[in-house]
Amino acid sequence: ARSGNRKGSVKPFFRDELFEFKGIWMNHYFTDNWDNVQSFQAKPDDIVISSFPRSGSTWTSYITDLLCAYTGVQHANFLLNSPRLVKTHLPVQFMPKSFWEKNCKIVYVARNPKDVVVSYYHLEQTLLLHPEPGDWSSYFQRFLQGKMVYGSWFDHVTNWWKKKETYSNLHFVFYEDLVKDTKREIDRLCSFLDLFRSSEEKDRIAAKVQFDQMKTNPSVNFTTVSAFDSTHDFLRKGKVGNWKNYFTVAQNEEFDKDFEKKMKNTTLEFCTAL
Ligand code: A3P
Repeated sequence: ARSGNRKGSVKPFFRDELFEFKGIWMNHYFTDNWDNVQSFQAKPDDIVISSFPRSGSTWTSYITDLLCAYTGVQHANFLLNSPRLVKTHLPVQFMPKSFWEKNCKIVYVARNPKDVVVSYYHLEQTLLLHPEPGDWSSYFQRFLQGKMVYGSWFDHVTNWWKKKETYSNLHFVFYEDLVKDTKREIDRLCSFLDLFRSSEEKDRIAAKVQFDQMKTNPSVNFTTVSAFDSTHDFLRKGKVGNWKNYFTVAQNEEFDKDFEKKMKNTTLEFCTAL
């Protein structure tokens, strides 16, 4: 399923095709590293930030990074000392088992899938490691079919949510809540991570992580990452409800129907109307 031009190519990145791997649609950048990922050795004080792509994981990672900075957390580079911050988009069943064995704290970020699909559509136009997204209406159908890098949004979110039944060190953050009241979500993160931060520190962090601040901050806006071309910004709109500019009435109805069907067995409550 590969495009076949990787070996010997002078280009550092190329757009791979999707193929099915253990029941999930993936690309080779992920599967080539499967063994290394699976044998990854977690440390008990690692903090994991997990999400389906485009759900607000960069935002949540940055908040967590700033909250931990006072205790000396360094960004995930597996050679660094503890404590470490690890960001991932893995479906829950693909997580290295070491994270469960070490009982690491895991933050999962979820977002209205209608905004996720629009955001992913723009990202894949600019991210040179993923397949070309094609036109919007076929992309929309692929999303409903789960033919995305990292698979089905529906499976990703509901399976991570189900993990809460057996694993208590898992904290859910919703993108829409972060937009509505960043400070409150910072408080919830502090409780989960057992961090005490003064009200002034939390205010400072809440201000620093607002969209306009992050968009111009080269350490978090991905402008220096060469896997992206310059057609779209990684930090694009930062809004709730941007999907309304892309979905047709018919697409919205189809999405709602599909959503209802696929989400009927989960206890996770999600509002897609926003
Ligand atoms: P949009 O494309 O809708 O703008 P992830 O980091 O998980 O890939 O998620 C990326 C999405 O989160 C993008 O959504 C991005 O703009 C948004 N985002 C990142 N930082 C944000 C912030 N400080 N405030 C609001 N949205 C933010």
